[in-house]
Amino acid sequence: MNPHQPDIPLDPNPAVAGPPPVAARVRNNYRRAVAAGGYDLYSPTRAGKHDAVRIFWEDQIRRRFLRPHLLPWAGRTGRPLRVLDLGCGSGQGFSLLSQIEREPRSLLLHEEWVIGPGEIEYTGVDLSEAMVAKGRENFAGYDNVFFFQADLNEGLGALNRESPFEIYFSSYGSFSHLSRVKLTRLLAEISRHAQPGALVVLDLNGRYSIEWPEYWTARTEAEKVRDYTMNYLYLGDPEAMAEADHFPLRFWTGAEVRQLAVRASQLSGVGLTLVDQMDVSVLVGRHVDTAQYHPALPPLRSRVNSLHQDFVRTDLDQLLVPPELAGQHPLVSPGLAQLIRSWNTLVGFTRRRLERPVRFTDLADWTHYPPGLQFAIMGMDRLIADASWIQNGDARANLVEPQLAYLLRSLEIGLQQGIGCGHGHLALFRVGSGS
Ligand SMILES: C[S@@+](CC[C@H](N)C(=O)[O-])C[C@H]1O[C@@H](n2cnc3c(N)ncnc32)[C@H](O)[C@@H]1O
Repeated sequence: MNPHQPDIPLDPNPAVAGPPPVAARVRNNYRRAVAAGGYDLYSPTRAGKHDAVRIFWEDQIRRRFLRPHLLPWAGRTGRPLRVLDLGCGSGQGFSLLSQIEREPRSLLLHEEWVIGPGEIEYTGVDLSEAMVAKGRENFAGYDNVFFFQADLNEGLGALNRESPFEIYFSSYGSFSHLSRVKLTRLLAEISRHAQPGALVVLDLNGRYSIEWPEYWTARTEAEKVRDYTMNYLYLGDPEAMAEADHFPLRFWTGAEVRQLAVRASQLSGVGLTLVDQMDVSVLVGRHVDTAQYHPALPPLRSRVNSLHQDFVRTDLDQLLVPPELAGQHPLVSPGLAQLIRSWNTLVGFTRRRLERPVRFTDLADWTHYPPGLQFAIMGMDRLIADASWIQNGDARANLVEPQLAYLLRSLEIGLQQGIGCGHGHLALFRVGSGS
C-alpha cells in the first residue's frame, strides 16, 4: 500500500457536482498530511516536512525574528505567558516559541530559553480535526497545552470568552488560508480582545517569491489568491505528488501587510502597530525543489539539505544559482540579483578555497562586496584553514559544508528586504501604539 495514501475516505460532498469546496479541500489536504506522518514530532531528515532547511533555517530564522520582542518577558515569575496559536497544526508553534535561546552566543553546556516550555500556557486552534487530534497526542503529557477545532473564517468565535492572550501567534502560512477581508476582520477582533502591548505574529506566503514569478504581477484581489499545493511533502513519489490537493491561498507583499495593519486598526478603533517584517526562504522555499510553478528552478533546497548532512559531500557547483532567475521586476529583481550574486560568490570562493589557499583580498570587487558577504568569506577562509588540520571524521562534510549552509543562511537574512520576496513573509504587530 502506498504509505502516502491513508485508508481514510475524503469528505463526502454528494450534493455538489465538480470539485469539492475550498474548506473540504483544505481539510482533506491536511488530514492526508497528518496521516502521512508529516506532523509527527520530528528529527532532522534530508527531505520531507522536517528537512534540515525547516529545522536549521526556517524554524531558527523565525526564532531569531521573535527573540528581541520576547526578551522583555524572559525570567518573569508569576503566571505563564498566554499564547494563542491560530492555525496551529499539531502544535509546532509551542516548540518554536519555547526553544528560543536566551544567550545565542553562549558556549556553555546549559542553554536557557527566553520562555521555557513550562512558562507558557498554550492554546492552539485549527480547522483540521486531524491536526487537533495529532496535537493532543503530541502533547499528551502537558497540562499547559490545549487544542481546539475552529474555523478562523468565523473569527475568534468562542475564544472571545477567554482571557486576553499576550501573543496571538501564527506560523508557516496559516493566515494565507484566509482572504484579505477575513484576515482584516480577524486582526480587528484580536485587537479588541487583546490588552495593549500584546503581540500579533503573522506568517504569510510571500507573493514575490522566486518560486512563482507568475504571481508577481497580480493586480486585482482575485489575482492575489492563487493556486497552492503541498505536494512537496511527497517529493520523490511522483504518484503521490500528482494526487496532492490544490487549494487557493492569499499571497502577500510587504506593502500589503503594512496596509493590513492600517485597515484592521480602522476597523477596530484600536491601534495595531507594525513592529517588524522579514522575508524567509528566499532561495530555498519548498517549491524551489518541486519547480511546480517555475520549471526553470534548480532544486536548491535539497542541495542545501545535503550541505547539512553528516558524512555527505556535496557538489558545490550544483549550488550555483542562475542569475537570470532574478527576473526583470523593478521592485523584486534588484534585491534578488544581489542575493544571487553574493550566494554564488560565497559558493565559488568556498569551492576554490577547498582546493588551495586564496587571498580573499585579491578577489575582484572585494571592496564592493556587501559587508555580510565579506564577513562570510573571511569566516569560511579561517574555517577551511583550520579544518585541513583535523585528522578525524570528514571535515569537509561535517564542518565546512554545514558552515557554508549557515553562512548562506546569514546572507539570506542580511539581504532580505521584507517586501514579500520569500516563500514566507513574517510580520510582527503590537496592539496599541506604545511599545
Ligand atoms: C501550513 S499549516 C501550518 C501549521 C502550523 N502552524 C505549523 O507551523 O506547521 C496551515 C494550518 O492552517 C490550518 N487552517 C487552514 N485554514 C484554516 C481556517 N480557516 N481556520 C483554522 N485553521 C486553518 C490548517 O488546517 C493547517 O493546520
